[in-house]
Amino acid sequence: MSEIKFLKETSSGGNYMRTYLVTGGAGFIGSNYIHYMFRKYGDEIRIINVDCLTYAGNLENLKDVENRENYTFVKADICDKEAIEKIFAENDIDRVVHFAAESHVDRSIRNPEVFVQTNVLGTLVMLNAAKNAWENEDGTYKEDKKFLHVSTDEVYGSLEEGDTYFYETTPLDPHSPYSASKASSDMLVKAYMDTYKFPANITNCSNNYGPYQFPEKLIPLMINNALQGKNLPVYGDGKNVRDWLYVDDHAKAIDMVQEQGKLGERYNIGGHNEKQNIEIIEIILETLLEILPENDERRANIGKQLITYVEDRKGHDRRYAIAPDKIKADIGWYPETMFKDGIKLTIRWFLENEEWMKNVTSGDYQKYYQEMYK
Ligand code: NAD
Ligand code: TYD
Repeated sequence: MSEIKFLKETSSGGNYMRTYLVTGGAGFIGSNYIHYMFRKYGDEIRIINVDCLTYAGNLENLKDVENRENYTFVKADICDKEAIEKIFAENDIDRVVHFAAESHVDRSIRNPEVFVQTNVLGTLVMLNAAKNAWENEDGTYKEDKKFLHVSTDEVYGSLEEGDTYFYETTPLDPHSPYSASKASSDMLVKAYMDTYKFPANITNCSNNYGPYQFPEKLIPLMINNALQGKNLPVYGDGKNVRDWLYVDDHAKAIDMVQEQGKLGERYNIGGHNEKQNIEIIEIILETLLEILPENDERRANIGKQLITYVEDRKGHDRRYAIAPDKIKADIGWYPETMFKDGIKLTIRWFLENEEWMKNVTSGDYQKYYQEMYK
């Protein structure tokens, strides 16, 4: 753990700096968010990243920020109350951005316990630590303190034939152990806002894609398998629909909600990029052939013959879709990256970072893949 060198100046003017406590910053969205925030704010902010580095957390994702004076990594489990309280005691935290979670539906079907542990109990630890650090004796809160709980559209359940979109008013109706654990954590955050007037927001985002995504999720798994000439396992009929958002657009939305949103509100993030899984796979195959140099030997194996229909996921949600009306109207956020551009950026990133892929797919990943797709 590197020493924290910055002290916050609270006086008006000068070098005012907010201190962020980011949980799960070594994962896919968290690391992209940290990059985004340093690109946007540079040295004006300080980020403390707390992550216990599960299989999904990788410090390589952050190697280009690790030497910054205004960045600190703390290896700790969010369920470890003492460790989290110590961070609040030693730092004047202004913002919590809570990403840390177990995030993969298939893993939750096989092993739900750790999902409840991290996603529900870990969130409770974060809420209590922030509340205790920020609350005044009279039950009000210190000025300008904010907690953002990063959640998913999966808490709303599944859209079926004839349904329109998920709205902030859609009742929570989770189906998988993952989405049930996220819905539970959303409800806890809501309870803290309602009961203690705790200064927080909840965001519910659709499926993200982009650099540093762990190859257990659809898009990086298909890119990785296609490059290796391996089968592309499609669950069920391949017609389940997800609403894909480029990860930088999500990072931007989180920052905008935290700075411009109304405390106590929930905001849905996503928008109008619904695609069937099979369409995504076809686009990946086409884009790979477009990008790979003519003399790349892997081209010979890349094609639709790799597509393999496999047994459906248990309780597989049919369709997720967000109409981002509220966040657009209230905050002015909208998705900026077209899928055709985002998928090219993503595939190029994976081609330029083959070592990253090799490192994250060695060891435990092989075991998971064999068990999952046997
Ligand atoms: P991820 O699995 O890539 O990363 C999760 C990170 O949390 C990892 O770095 C991991 O080491 C860390 N972590 C896990 N358990 C921890 C614990 N007990 N203590 C400390 N750190 C712990 O996940 P992601 O895809 O980046 O998702 C981040 C958040 O965004 C999650 O809360 C997820 O529910 C939410 N979300 C994800 C998506 C998506 O498409 N990936 C969409 C909407 C919302
Ligand atoms: P995933 O990336 O796991 O996200 P989520 O289930 O949280 O939406 O899966 C996206 C979609 O792709 C989902 O409908 C399941 C499907 N899928 C496959 O068909 N094959 C696969 O190997 C994986 C990982 C997912």
